Amino acid sequence: MPYSQRPTLTQFLIEERRKHPEARGQLNALILDVANACKAIAKVVARGELAHPVGSRHSSATVNVQGEVQKPLDVISNEVFIQTTEWGGNLAGLASEEMETSYPVPGKYPRGDYLLVFDPLDGSSNIDVNVSVGSIFSILRAPETIDETINDQDFLQTGRNQVAAGYAIYGPTTMLVLTVGTGVHGFTLDSDLGEFKLTHQFIKVAEDTQEFAINASNSRFWEAPIKRYVDECLAGTAGPRGQDFNMRWVASMVAEAHRILMRGGVFMYPRDNKDPSKPGRLRLLYEASPIAMIMEQAGGRASTGNVAIQDVQPTELHQRIALIFGSKNEVERIERYHQERNYDDEIESSPLFAARGLFRD
Ligand code: F6P
Ligand code: MN
Repeated sequence: MPYSQRPTLTQFLIEERRKHPEARGQLNALILDVANACKAIAKVVARGELAHPVGSRHSSATVNVQGEVQKPLDVISNEVFIQTTEWGGNLAGLASEEMETSYPVPGKYPRGDYLLVFDPLDGSSNIDVNVSVGSIFSILRAPETIDETINDQDFLQTGRNQVAAGYAIYGPTTMLVLTVGTGVHGFTLDSDLGEFKLTHQFIKVAEDTQEFAINASNSRFWEAPIKRYVDECLAGTAGPRGQDFNMRWVASMVAEAHRILMRGGVFMYPRDNKDPSKPGRLRLLYEASPIAMIMEQAGGRASTGNVAIQDVQPTELHQRIALIFGSKNEVERIERYHQERNYDDEIESSPLFAARGLFRD
């Protein structure tokens, strides 16, 4: 497509809206505000160390809700998201990785129809090493009980309720990848114009892959189905899969999701036995859920290993979850390994096969 003919994000959204004559324009306006937040964050991230006064970089580090060191850029990005989106009359409330409780839109602004849930700077441990990071967002409908202030409970909706989801990746180029439920589309920031332009239409995740991503330093804590899957990949042509696999680990989930959208692959951050109080590492509402909607919209799959991420009923704002996503056939294989394991466990615990059971040798 010639350069001048690439639609901007605004054009794309207007054309999408024309398919819904009943739409009031709030969703489009909100997505454009989010895109503006991402452009502002891209600028700060790109300035790197130059964005910080000499010597100030680590002095204001505090600890966030999850007990991780909160670098100033996380805080800045969170504020940018709020300031860019709260005023427009499109939102009733926001929730973010960086805020312990949800944030109702202040009374001085009109209340809108939507809720915005976001991770303002994902993979932020990669900031210091100049590796890609990103922002992730999910848009839900606000409850219609307009007399009551938004609270945490209002955000506890399954991923199937998402109206839109997306992420921005701050890499060699800045991109916004978006779904409004009609496929996944990628926009590249044209920094001369300050506009996102449609460069990747109807992104599809390859159904098969020979590439997987997992933090292998946790392997001694993995549950049996994940061990089995990874062992089989590592065995390569000599193993049951009969083919060699490649491995990647960026430690920025947005970058892994983007790679998988572009060339297939499977990402795993499973539940493990490292800290049994944590049901996984990544957060359901603002990491797993939006990525799951994107993956499914692109023909991929996202699962806990046992159930589709989008079918999980959240119980807490900052809930963690096991997350496996990417190429459909691989994710389904991993789910199969979980089912087979569950079946083995049932047999183990059935009285006939138990330690003193009839069929035990
Ligand atoms: O937000 C969590 C995150 O930074 C993800 O972007 C990334 O996939 C993961 O944590 C990295 O985990 P680890 O530090 O175990 O490699
Ligand atoms: Mn994150």
